[in-house]
Amino acid sequence: MKKNKVVIVGTGMVGMSYAYSMLNQGTCEELVLIDINKDRAHGEAIDLNHGLSFAPRKMKIYAGDYSDCKDAYIICITAGAVQLEGEKRLDLLHKNTKIMKSIIDEIKKSGFNGIILIATNPVDIMTYVAWKLSGLEKSKVIGSGTTLDSARLRYTLSEKLDVNPKDINAYVMGEHGDSQFVAWSYALCGVQPIYQIASRKESKIKFDELSSIEDEVKNIAYKIIECKNSTYYGIGMALTRITKAILENENSILTVSSYLDGQYGHEDVYIAVPSIVNKDGVREVTHLALDTTEKAKLDKSIDIMKENINKLDL
Ligand code: 2OP
Repeated sequence: MKKNKVVIVGTGMVGMSYAYSMLNQGTCEELVLIDINKDRAHGEAIDLNHGLSFAPRKMKIYAGDYSDCKDAYIICITAGAVQLEGEKRLDLLHKNTKIMKSIIDEIKKSGFNGIILIATNPVDIMTYVAWKLSGLEKSKVIGSGTTLDSARLRYTLSEKLDVNPKDINAYVMGEHGDSQFVAWSYALCGVQPIYQIASRKESKIKFDELSSIEDEVKNIAYKIIECKNSTYYGIGMALTRITKAILENENSILTVSSYLDGQYGHEDVYIAVPSIVNKDGVREVTHLALDTTEKAKLDKSIDIMKENINKLDL
């Protein structure tokens, strides 16, 4: 297996924003683009290669096919039907399960034995499908989960508080979708709890604003889709962040979609919870002692995932 080889399946806007972000950050050494439309993948590879003179490292970028998966370290799947205006991510369930099945089938035939990173929506369920059908270890199949939603939350809070988003440590957990929630009891600005900051009279953020911030983060993708049909830069960068955590064996805590094996009182489901990510995929799912309201929200989100998984013939 090549330690620095990444394959992207799906060269639509999400796949290419991810590729472009990796090129700009020098995240990997070898990048293969696979798409059902071979010309498109070929054109994208040429276009990216023309940016190499300006990139931080040398990279080998080319359009390939599933035989290129064999020795890859990571395969990121972004292919699938996209959410249209008025649609929820869960509305893509059946269409994208069909696509996911055919992709995993091809990946298996290649003899791939690395890490699969899923971005296709509904991502938590597509990650479950990919794990179930791939035969790979649970820790080696990961969904982008709420990595992007957590970044959206950090950005929104950073604007309110006028601090760098990197200094906001706060997680969106649960479904990457309508039942997601903010674990406010663990949200920090620097080392100060957001709850504490929000309860101060002179604070830039008010306690009763927190639920509208949570709703704004949850619904912002709908707004973007309304304005420009789809979202891609944010998810592209979130995927790059996860890829870097894997390739550089970072042991970073990210809200990826991870398999629960008893954690939070649940099993046999993929859902976004803060997880330690390294060269082996998800090394560990961290256990947060959520307050009663948050725990009820996580339970509800998991119930929705299971209900939908049960509709599938896997
Ligand atoms: C996003 O949250 C639509 O899942 C996509 O940007």
